[in-house]
Amino acid sequence: MEEKEQVMDLLKAIKARKSIRAFKSDPVPKETVEEILRLSIHAPSAINLQPWEFIVVTGEERERLSRRLLKAYKEKQIACSPGNVKPLPKTYGKRGAKTLELMKPFFEEMKVDINQYINEGSCNFYGAPVAILLCLDDSFPHARLVDMGIALGYLVLVAHEFGLATCPIGLILAYENEIKDLLNIPENKNVAIGVALGYPNPEVPINRFKSHRDDFKKFVRWIE
Ligand SMILES: Cc1cc2nc3c(=O)[nH]c(=O)nc-3n(C[C@H](O)[C@H](O)[C@H](O)COP(=O)(O)O)c2cc1C
Repeated sequence: MEEKEQVMDLLKAIKARKSIRAFKSDPVPKETVEEILRLSIHAPSAINLQPWEFIVVTGEERERLSRRLLKAYKEKQIACSPGNVKPLPKTYGKRGAKTLELMKPFFEEMKVDINQYINEGSCNFYGAPVAILLCLDDSFPHARLVDMGIALGYLVLVAHEFGLATCPIGLILAYENEIKDLLNIPENKNVAIGVALGYPNPEVPINRFKSHRDDFKKFVRWIE
């Protein structure tokens, strides 16, 4: 493929990718998941430490994981939130609120409660056949979460390129102990983020939702 075509594909993928919140149950071939991960680890990392570890959960184990997460959610009711350590400055709060507002008509069409759908859906990886947990050894500082984030960014774009869909799932980190216990993840590994991976279900209205972005100028300050 010509270099220019590859750039065009990348730009298209960047623009078209979005989080999907209803998946078909169709399984994803193991080789495809492996290829997605093989490409995702092309992500840069500090001193090329490649700190990421991927735990891929499928089949009956994936079902068991969801059941455990749903149980934990029902018991503890820790709702989906970005886990702020201080009250958010208004700009950010407004963006979150706007996103939920724009999602609302889709959930109304589906006749479901938005909070219940997102919280319980996240615990269930929105029905995706593959759940991936990105883990980080606890000897790393928090700064290495940057590397994890880059790998996640690669993963969602590569999956998109393979005709698959994703949704990063941070909500489940509230139940990290339960996840580690169920999947025998060693004490010294932290779960940084989860990802639902599978084929999108185009019939579910929320999948027509495309999130907005503020104008990029709002995020940029030039010093010349
Ligand atoms: C770190 C992280 C955690 C997220 N956690 C969740 C989650 O638990 N549940 C969910 O439905 N979406 C989750 N998302 C998806 C975001 O809501 C989504 O990326 C955002 O609204 C922008 O939409 P887009 O991905 O469609 O562009 C998460 C995204 C990131 C990057």
